[in-house]
Amino acid sequence: MAITRLACLLTLLTTHCYFSVLAVVLRTNNESPWTDEFDKIELSCLFESISTLNPRIEWKKIKNEGPSYVYFDKKVSGDLENRAVIREPATLVITNATRLDTAKYRCEVTAPEDLKSFDEIVIDLTVRVKPVMPKCSVPKSVPVGKSAELSCLEEEGFPKSQYQWFKNRQEIPEDPKSSHNFFNSSYTLNADSGTLNFIAVRKEDAGEYFCRAKNDAGAAECPAQTMEVYDIDILGIILGVLVVVVVLLCITVGICCAYKKGYFSGQKQPGNNYKVPSKGDGVDYVRTDDEGDFRHKSSFVI
Ligand SMILES: *[C@@H]1O[C@H](CO)[C@@H](O)[C@H](O)[C@H]1NC(C)=O
Ligand SMILES: *[C@@H]1O[C@H](CO)[C@@H](O)[C@H](O)[C@H]1NC(C)=O
Repeated sequence: MAITRLACLLTLLTTHCYFSVLAVVLRTNNESPWTDEFDKIELSCLFESISTLNPRIEWKKIKNEGPSYVYFDKKVSGDLENRAVIREPATLVITNATRLDTAKYRCEVTAPEDLKSFDEIVIDLTVRVKPVMPKCSVPKSVPVGKSAELSCLEEEGFPKSQYQWFKNRQEIPEDPKSSHNFFNSSYTLNADSGTLNFIAVRKEDAGEYFCRAKNDAGAAECPAQTMEVYDIDILGIILGVLVVVVVLLCITVGICCAYKKGYFSGQKQPGNNYKVPSKGDGVDYVRTDDEGDFRHKSSFVI
């Protein structure tokens, strides 16, 4: 170092010397590193040039709320405590990254013995998170010609998951026209939102469907669910309704006839026998002691 300084003094007037020796200049191997959650990652902070022997090194994490200390006074602090170390000269090594570590980090070096005594670099860290099993919704049964929506959602993954749909284990292409198997199908597929929308389902759209959520860190699938497609048979429905109406009519007429018959036969043979009063036949009989008979008390109307 002393020799460098001497050399520098000798050529003091050249700007090259000024910037290369009496200035702290930082550099990094990677401005935007990424890692998977629970892995190790280095935020490299290297000295391009420095003269000060014991520069002050600080790391700050910059979030929306503002910067907070990560490394200060030769100690790792905050939520990275016990999970990060400093490696010479000023590199921050996170040994077990979590999703909350995704942020910008600033390496700041103060070197009082240099003419330009301060420099900083910002490193943008991304901690990728594998998707979890997505929640899928597949309608069980859809009539031919109606619309149907299949949805798939997963919210843990980072970066945000992209979605693929499979029918009978075969991937559904974004453009149905691109595949012989899906050529006549009327769906739209949105890989960002995870929805598979049929404008009008066909018999051929019936099958087992499942969805896969994936990002750079991994993928996860939901179990397959069956979507059935049935015909609406208009003629069948009309016939069915007709049959029900006819049956109801027959029953009504039958009850009326039976009732009328019963009523008239009761009137024709009075006094032979006690008719046990039964509830709900619409007629009340009152027994009179003297006559030992029934007196018709109330009448009914058909
Ligand atoms: C990393 O941290 C998680 C919890 O935050 C823990 O479950 C896991 O065991 C840790 N891994 C290592 C290698 O320390
Ligand atoms: C698509 O529909 C057309 C007309 O209905 C038919 O001729 C053709 O065979 C169908 N294609 C496939 C792949 O099913």
